[in-house]
Amino acid sequence: MQTQELDLTISKLTAKGKGILAADESTGTITKRFQALQIESTEDTRRAYRELLMTTPDFSQFIAGVILYEETLKQKTSKGVLFPELLQKQGVLPGIKVDKGLVNLANTNQENITQGLDGLPERLAEYKEKGARFAKWRAVYAIGTHTPSKLAILTNAEVLARYAAICQQQGIVPIVEPEVLIDGDHTIERCMEVSEPVFRAVFTALHQHKVYLEGIVLKPSMVISGKSCPQKASYQQVAELTVKVLKRTVPAAVPTINFLSGGQTSEEATVHLNTMNQLLIQNKPWNVSFSYARALQDECMKTWRGEAKNTAAAQKAFCKRARLNSLAAQGQYKTVMEKEEVSAV
Ligand code: 13P
Repeated sequence: MQTQELDLTISKLTAKGKGILAADESTGTITKRFQALQIESTEDTRRAYRELLMTTPDFSQFIAGVILYEETLKQKTSKGVLFPELLQKQGVLPGIKVDKGLVNLANTNQENITQGLDGLPERLAEYKEKGARFAKWRAVYAIGTHTPSKLAILTNAEVLARYAAICQQQGIVPIVEPEVLIDGDHTIERCMEVSEPVFRAVFTALHQHKVYLEGIVLKPSMVISGKSCPQKASYQQVAELTVKVLKRTVPAAVPTINFLSGGQTSEEATVHLNTMNQLLIQNKPWNVSFSYARALQDECMKTWRGEAKNTAAAQKAFCKRARLNSLAAQGQYKTVMEKEEVSAV
């Protein structure tokens, strides 16, 4: 295994006050997000939008790596520069989503498994040649009265571990992403009851597959009340229970935890991250940062609306969000900063 190569990538991804931008929405997902804002989704509008993100002035101060979708890995900016090159020039690492989405897991009650292991070594070799230094694979768990089932927890853990082992064999850092969905009316306590065995099963499988823990990024969901739960958990509760579950399940050998935002508002995702970093100030087993998609991009995409004349304003909105999350990753964010003029960024 190429541990030195993995260590080098990890050292770059864990630079102080930096996080990861998830810009790896599949064509279906970004099309839905564009349609909600009446933006046409074509290969070229997707390219233009991602160019906007990755040419934002100063974004490399706050972003250490960008997860790309395969389409973007092969695209060029309007100036003819391949996106991975554009990132490298700014000292930002290119990453790549490698899973091929969800399919039904047979003999469960509508639960899912993530596919994409077949041919993965060959695909990784190609992505690496194009500049990718890390990869992402997302497993999804919905909370219901009887779900996630033991079968879904074990099978998804096994697949995540197989993916991680294959990435490391190729010298690529795997982002291991178990996402317990926020959808539903469950309480935060129920989310905790589900998240703990999910994360534990993932680390048992990673151990069984001899994954080098020092060479992974964990990208978990936070422990949080369901979107439609009548008792919305406070920021403090989310931070405390998330840290509690992670301390119970994630070995200190893991260098970094970069959360997904999972449907939280941008501000919530920032406050939660900040509160966790404050809680961990005395004793921090891992780097604790972000790997958000929606929580970093929402305001930016809304400001852009598919129009070139809005590019600079959209970039300012993106830069502001990235800066606030960078501060949150150091426990230095304050809610008053939300009101600061975007132009002050
Ligand atoms: P969100 O932050 O929007 O949840 O996206 C993160 C991600 O990469 C989902 O796989």
